[in-house]
Amino acid sequence: MRTMPLHKHLARLVLLAGAGALALAAGGCSVKGGENPNLIAGKQMFVAKCGACHTLARAETKGTVGPNLDEAFRAAVNEGGGRNTVRTVVEGQVENPNPEGLMPKGLASGAVLKDIAAYIADSAAKSGSDSGLLATAVKAPGSGKPAVEKAGKLQIAADPAGQLAYVTKSASAKPGAVTIEMPNASGVSHNIAVEAGEKGANGTGTVVGASPFTAKGSVSVHVTLKPGTYTFFCQAPGHRAAGMYGTLTVK
Ligand code: HEC
Repeated sequence: MRTMPLHKHLARLVLLAGAGALALAAGGCSVKGGENPNLIAGKQMFVAKCGACHTLARAETKGTVGPNLDEAFRAAVNEGGGRNTVRTVVEGQVENPNPEGLMPKGLASGAVLKDIAAYIADSAAKSGSDSGLLATAVKAPGSGKPAVEKAGKLQIAADPAGQLAYVTKSASAKPGAVTIEMPNASGVSHNIAVEAGEKGANGTGTVVGASPFTAKGSVSVHVTLKPGTYTFFCQAPGHRAAGMYGTLTVK
């Protein structure tokens, strides 16, 4: 029996390897688009477009304007149609929200809506936390570098992805007059207020100043600070409780 010449052998191997790479590439594509929704993009879009109003434990969103989606879908997930029902309900709700309700129309459509709906269907009322790529799909809110006052100006931006948080939990300033500026690119309405003391999520202190609200743009507040500790926070209902606050140290 004649053995296959080495160069033919190699050619076959290359062909096979090529076919393998193609199959892999095709598999990769089908995760990204086409028929299979992309859960990673779905999570990112959910946080950006829905999380400010809806709580979903897996996405770590804490909005309270709309229903808690884990609670809303707990029964559906445990019943016959299961997670497919959730998908259909979400797509229907986003396409046709109640015109008298508080949910805006036209938040998402097409492939983006399919990804969001698939992500909610996959995540609602599911215990534990995300792992792998899903776990790192959205940056933890408030994990940015501390904000430092310079020449009487202190900039503390709202989370640009729409999380109920500022980009940092910590700021410092020198005593005296300070302008605190809050850029907000998220599309979710926020402001920035300052109260005396380190009060965390549930303040009861005296508000020493508060900026106007903006959903897109930049607002600021002028305050005169004495040495000590203050809390900066958002006055939109539910935002502070959801984590939109931080500590300002003046010394
Ligand atoms: C501005 C706040 C707001 C935003 C943003 C928002 N929703 Fe809603 N959502 C609501 C409110 C309020 C309701 C309650 C029903 C109503 O008013 O129509 C609701 C209802 C729902 C329901 C029905 C829940 C149930 O109990 O049946 C689903 C599903 C839903 N929203 C999904 C989404 C998705 C997905 C997004 C993002 C694309 C989103 N929402 C963005 C406020 C919001």
